[in-house]
Amino acid sequence: MAVSFGSTSHVVLTFYLLSTLGLFAPQAEAAPRAFFVFGDSLVDSGNNNYLATTARADAPPYGIDHPSHRATGRFSNGLNIPDLISQRIGSEPTLPYLSPELTGEKLLRGANFASAGVGILNDTGVQFVNIIRAPVQLDYFKQYQQRVSALLGPEYTKQLVNNALFLVTLGGNDFVNNYYLVPLSARSRQYKLQDYVPFIISEYRKILLRLYDLGARRVLVTGTGPLGCVPAELAQHSRNGECVAELQYAASLFNPQLDDMLTSLNQELGSHVFVGVNTRQMHNDFMSNPGAYGFVTAKIACCGQGPYNGIGLCTPMSNVCPNRDVYAFWDAFHPSEKASRLIVEQIMSGTTEYMKPMNLSTILAIDSNQL
Ligand SMILES: *[C@@H]1O[C@H](CO)[C@@H](O)[C@H](O)[C@H]1NC(C)=O
Ligand SMILES: *[C@@H]1O[C@H](CO)[C@@H](O)[C@H](O)[C@H]1NC(C)=O
Repeated sequence: MAVSFGSTSHVVLTFYLLSTLGLFAPQAEAAPRAFFVFGDSLVDSGNNNYLATTARADAPPYGIDHPSHRATGRFSNGLNIPDLISQRIGSEPTLPYLSPELTGEKLLRGANFASAGVGILNDTGVQFVNIIRAPVQLDYFKQYQQRVSALLGPEYTKQLVNNALFLVTLGGNDFVNNYYLVPLSARSRQYKLQDYVPFIISEYRKILLRLYDLGARRVLVTGTGPLGCVPAELAQHSRNGECVAELQYAASLFNPQLDDMLTSLNQELGSHVFVGVNTRQMHNDFMSNPGAYGFVTAKIACCGQGPYNGIGLCTPMSNVCPNRDVYAFWDAFHPSEKASRLIVEQIMSGTTEYMKPMNLSTILAIDSNQL
């Protein structure tokens, strides 16, 4: 009797909480899986707008092609990679964790913890104060779980997190905003490049393991793009438009070591938790044959100034191209919405050259059969 009373009251309580959130249990089960995002400006959807920092995309022409036509904090002319992944999993875009709108049932969609300027290392992006460094993004994720738990209980929260999709994008800034930020940077005096890469990979491994410990079971991890070919680098260091060799070399060391690390983590965990996204190959495709993807250039940024529109930031005073869809780069560092769409296309259905060990369509199919 006591047992049955206990479980009935639990069901009633859960029902009560779900109805106060505007959700009934059957709908909660049918809801799209939650999506959690960690990383840097490539995936920040506006957290930095809530922080006293200069690393922000909060003025036009950022957002010129966004449905809101406003600068939302995304480093894009429109939607960014997380938005486009949300669309593919049938969900609304995840809100920035710091957004005051992230309450009630919106919490169940997941959250975006990314913050422009951060890297794997705490000392990456030192020039930006107040950004949310990787360990703090994870602390916030823990806090998020406590908030959901307070509403719906620990068991519901655990299921939500275990069944969720994750995206982590880190590493590019550990080169451009750390090792190569200034000549003779502290890290470049401490490590030769060949030793720096294994060091940041081992720190990255710790971050990913902590994410696993916090309940993540399906995690897309992007490599770095062709760092030496972005308009900012071409403008500063290239003579004839060729990619900057040193940064290309850095990316060529980082990406395969990241792949190996993810493979060994999966072996250790006995499951395909981490999925490597080869963004470098995706960008290389645009660069080697821009026309095949509808681009007139993969070297010149749409928004900016100076050679390749690669000097300084994209601001209201910058040149802006009339048709953003024909540029692979929106600003000196970040892809256009069109390029992000093509990247997400490969994330969904790319071969193992792009997605290791499998693409997102395969993951979604496997996971839906398990339910
Ligand atoms: C980074 O900072 C966090 C505290 O925010 C600390 O726990 C961690 O040990 C630091 N990582 C390294 C590699 O120093
Ligand atoms: C990727 O996804 C598509 C479905 O869109 C599937 O047909 C294809 O076989 C997958 N490729 C690999 C290599 O898993």
